[in-house]
Amino acid sequence: MKKNIILIGFMGTGKSSLGRHLARRLGYKFVDTDSAIEEITGKTVEQIFRKDGEIRFRSEEKLLVRKLSRRAGLVVATGGGTVLDRENVEILRQNGVLICLTAAPEVIFQRVKNKKRRPLLSRGDLWENIVRLLHERAGAYEVAEFTVDTGELGFDEVLHQIINYLQ
Ligand code: S3P
Repeated sequence: MKKNIILIGFMGTGKSSLGRHLARRLGYKFVDTDSAIEEITGKTVEQIFRKDGEIRFRSEEKLLVRKLSRRAGLVVATGGGTVLDRENVEILRQNGVLICLTAAPEVIFQRVKNKKRRPLLSRGDLWENIVRLLHERAGAYEVAEFTVDTGELGFDEVLHQIINYLQ
């Protein structure tokens, strides 16, 4: 059985765009958990946070993690908060390889500044939110087996490193 490849990491580290390419290269199916939650609920991530609250979003995320872990041959781009929940980590690990994408806060800032899909960054000062959350989450992404910095290396080199690691 082909283990799933689970991309974890902070917002703006490139999980979705890299994941899509990685899946194509490996002949795996690609799932972006945020998009899947939007499809399942019929609401945007932003609407769920605003109308139903973060707790509701996290429970949708958790249900989805359980569903996906019963499948194989997937590349999964998780949301930046998915692995803050230890149970999600345990479930994802059962049949998945966890790979963490990182980037410096300056890089993250540039990447997320024009995107509106991230309610945790959109209230107040963007830079302060990034620095605070990175600080709060320091350690949470260390559950990965392999980590690669997507700010330092070019897109193709990052893909190459991940594929090399998986072989
Ligand atoms: C979140 C990250 C987002 C999305 C939600 C919460 C987080 O996903 O799941 O806004 O807690 O870091 P991306 O990492 O794909 O932006």
